[in-house]
Amino acid sequence: MRRKTIKPIYSMCVQPSFIIGTNNEDGSYNFAPITWVSATYEGGEGYLLVISMSGTKKTRQNVNRTGIFSANLVNRDMLPLMDYLGSKHAAEGNKDDIEYGVSRGEVLDVPTLNDSPWVYECEVERLVETGESVTFFCHIRNIQVDENLTCEDTFDVDLTVLDPVIYSGRYHSLGSMLGKIGDFNKNAEVNAGNTNDVLDKFHRRRLIMYLILAIGVIASLIGMGTMIPAVLIIGIIGIMASLFYGLFSGAMCCPYCGEILGRSGFGDHCQYCGKKIF
Ligand SMILES: Cc1cc2nc3c(=O)[nH]c(=O)nc-3n(C[C@H](O)[C@H](O)[C@H](O)COP(=O)(O)O)c2cc1C
Repeated sequence: MRRKTIKPIYSMCVQPSFIIGTNNEDGSYNFAPITWVSATYEGGEGYLLVISMSGTKKTRQNVNRTGIFSANLVNRDMLPLMDYLGSKHAAEGNKDDIEYGVSRGEVLDVPTLNDSPWVYECEVERLVETGESVTFFCHIRNIQVDENLTCEDTFDVDLTVLDPVIYSGRYHSLGSMLGKIGDFNKNAEVNAGNTNDVLDKFHRRRLIMYLILAIGVIASLIGMGTMIPAVLIIGIIGIMASLFYGLFSGAMCCPYCGEILGRSGFGDHCQYCGKKIF
């Protein structure tokens, strides 16, 4: 890829959009979009949500004072709400020019947005100040998710169901789900599909390789027997072709680990990764 240098003023940071819900001093609630949101892990169960805020906004003051907040993931339908909440500061008055449903958290006493498909209830663990900004590292005390979402494990969250707004100076939406870790690792072809499919493909390629080899050997023998050089050359080319085909199609390599088979003898199992291949 050919690249060009640009000034470091450009901010390309792919950010998830969250609306942060906090409690005001008088018990009322306040919501504001914050997209400087990430996560980190300090061991044990769960991970820390990391959110960063600049300036003197009410949301920052509230989080500082109470140490708790909700982080409400913004989906495409919530975009008008996020746009509104982000363009009005709490200092300019109550953010009630448009209607939105608010509930309370299930574990922490924080305001949550009814329309959000994924809500974190968070408690600040520690903060780090850098210039005009502050970054909060927060324990996630509870997560509420859209009932339509099914997650088999920690990483099995289908973002296409959540339809989040992605912010990077402009609002974007997600494309499709592409797969999981390992699906694109060429050497671990088995991860991408069913084990039987992988072995079937491997055995088919080996059969083709042996057919080409057999044709090459037969032609070579006929060429030598009849002393016709052209037939002998065709035979030798056939033998070479079977070798190249075997190497480049994967017929000579273990379908699981990708190692070239037969360097230390054949068997039912790959001599490198130990998986059954024949
Ligand atoms: C899409 C979007 C993303 C934003 N992300 C952040 C952010 O990550 N950090 C921040 O300090 N302010 C961010 N803001 C600005 C605040 O949301 C904005 O200043 C808001 O009015 C503050 O409201 P408050 O005074 O009620 O806290 C963002 C605004 C928008 C529209």
